[in-house]
Amino acid sequence: MPTKQDIISAFQFRHACKQFDPAKTICDEDFDFILETARLSPSSFGFEPWHFLIIQNQDLRTKLMKVVWGAQGTLPTASHFVAMLYRKDDMRFDSTYLADFMRNIQKLPEEIIEKKKAKYQKFQATDFNLLDNPRHMHDWAGKQIYIALGNMMTAAAMIGIDSCPIEGFDIAETEAVLSEAGVLDSNKMGLAVMVAFGYRTNPQLVKTRQTQEQIISWIR
Ligand SMILES: Cc1cc2nc3c(=O)[nH]c(=O)nc-3n(C[C@H](O)[C@H](O)[C@H](O)COP(=O)(O)O)c2cc1C
Repeated sequence: MPTKQDIISAFQFRHACKQFDPAKTICDEDFDFILETARLSPSSFGFEPWHFLIIQNQDLRTKLMKVVWGAQGTLPTASHFVAMLYRKDDMRFDSTYLADFMRNIQKLPEEIIEKKKAKYQKFQATDFNLLDNPRHMHDWAGKQIYIALGNMMTAAAMIGIDSCPIEGFDIAETEAVLSEAGVLDSNKMGLAVMVAFGYRTNPQLVKTRQTQEQIISWIR
């Protein structure tokens, strides 16, 4: 097992790397390791509302440069560039996608599927009030993508790979670029966030954070 110090060192090593060394490529084994931490990430009810586009095509990256203002240094230099998508109506309690998912992926028996569906319906309809506005559903699905995002960046840092999370884009324009390229069906999926991976060229800045006392309250 890595030591606590190993893990904290990885958290210190990870920073929003604004520019990568374009001459350095992450090897397949290491990138597959990063992807595996996304795949194993937890999600609400275990429904995995995600899909990951690994954008290695330079032509598409150039098109994205026009709309992704937060990745001007990373899009052209990243070894690997990932657009993290969330599923839309597939995530509704009554979708055939989820019924199939519970049956084929989660391998649940029919009576459990019915119970889980009823619980999930209450969760979506009243607990989290997700059904009255598609935006609520999309934001809720999108939130879970960020769990995979965090895991991927931490895992990368633990093996000495740099990353930068990216929300600096116009969602509609960026989805349009991906749709025109034929890699996004915007009726079914939306863009939550992106993340670039590679190897730094510049030293990282000193990390600034509030203290634990400023952000944590213990209720005993
Ligand atoms: C969800 C999210 C979106 C971000 N979007 C961008 C971005 O578009 N471009 C960028 O250069 N940095 C982006 N950042 C990086 C943050 O600015 C950075 O994480 C923060 O300032 C803390 O610095 P550190 O990560 O180097 O410790 C983003 C971070 C997060 C978590």
